[in-house]
Amino acid sequence: MQVVLITGASSGMGLETAKYLAKQNFKVYAATRNPQKLLHLQEKNIVPITLDVTSPKSVEECVAYILTQEKTIDILINNAGYGLVSSVEDCTEEEMLAQFNVNLFGVLRVCKSVIPVMREHQKGVIINISSFLGKIGLPLLTFYNASKYALEGVTDSLRYELREFNIRVHSILPGFFDTQFARDNLVVNAKVFQENFAYKYLVKDFVPMIVDQINNGNSAKEVAALVLEIIEDEYFVSRVTVGEKAKKFLPMRKELSDEDFERRVREYYSLG
Ligand SMILES: NC(=O)c1ccc[n+]([C@@H]2O[C@H](COP(=O)([O-])OP(=O)(O)OC[C@H]3O[C@@H](n4cnc5c(N)ncnc54)[C@H](OP(=O)(O)O)[C@@H]3O)[C@@H](O)[C@H]2O)c1
Repeated sequence: MQVVLITGASSGMGLETAKYLAKQNFKVYAATRNPQKLLHLQEKNIVPITLDVTSPKSVEECVAYILTQEKTIDILINNAGYGLVSSVEDCTEEEMLAQFNVNLFGVLRVCKSVIPVMREHQKGVIINISSFLGKIGLPLLTFYNASKYALEGVTDSLRYELREFNIRVHSILPGFFDTQFARDNLVVNAKVFQENFAYKYLVKDFVPMIVDQINNGNSAKEVAALVLEIIEDEYFVSRVTVGEKAKKFLPMRKELSDEDFERRVREYYSLG
């Protein structure tokens, strides 16, 4: 039975992927800051495990525990992430660092602990849950965008670094998906709610439109199915999109000039 570690597994794409892979007979370690949230799960192949990706100690303990139970970790799915909504000028030092600490350094910390295990076994698959916003910028999402753009770089570099050891690295770029993301996991800078916020014009229409598009987005089940496809196909491409918004915007991003693409996004989101 292949062993999977998924981060951020208490909701959304992480949870759906954990359940789907468990049904397909993978042994899934569903890592979350709060394993209590997973105690209701019936699937016998899911083991809830504590993990805070911002803590090196927590990451080391999580991986060490799995290795007391299993010979190896075959598949790592770096999924934990959240979105910071802030203008650049108003963002606090703490908010800025926290966004990268989870979305980027969190991934690198888990990779640091898992790669030696995969390397020893000369086998592994790492799947990074990125975003179509890892290729496209949007206002008030600069820090989230930057963290996901950086994550795309991690995937590209690691593919070269790990190929020799038979470890595949892939990036999934979802469009907007109906998960807990916009309900529980958007962190909004305090200025955004203030009357005198300089970017109020964005708060009026653009932000609600994004939240609405996320809450009415695709089903996380699609991501789970795609993860299985990647695991099963050793020739799977490095980077793949999923969901309506990613499929709409990313081909356009490739085909158009930067200026023409920006014009299309401005029109679509009425950004003036
Ligand atoms: N929903 C979308 O529209 C969308 C689009 C593109 C990409 N994504 C990406 O997809 C991934 C999964 O998100 P989702 O849509 O499934 O959202 P979700 O339901 O909110 O799940 C996100 C998970 O990330 C973990 N997480 C959130 N904030 C964290 C923090 N401060 N520190 C550590 N872990 C944290 C949580 O794990 P625990 O609470 O279990 O620890 C949570 O279960 C994220 O990386 C997100 O950026 C989402």
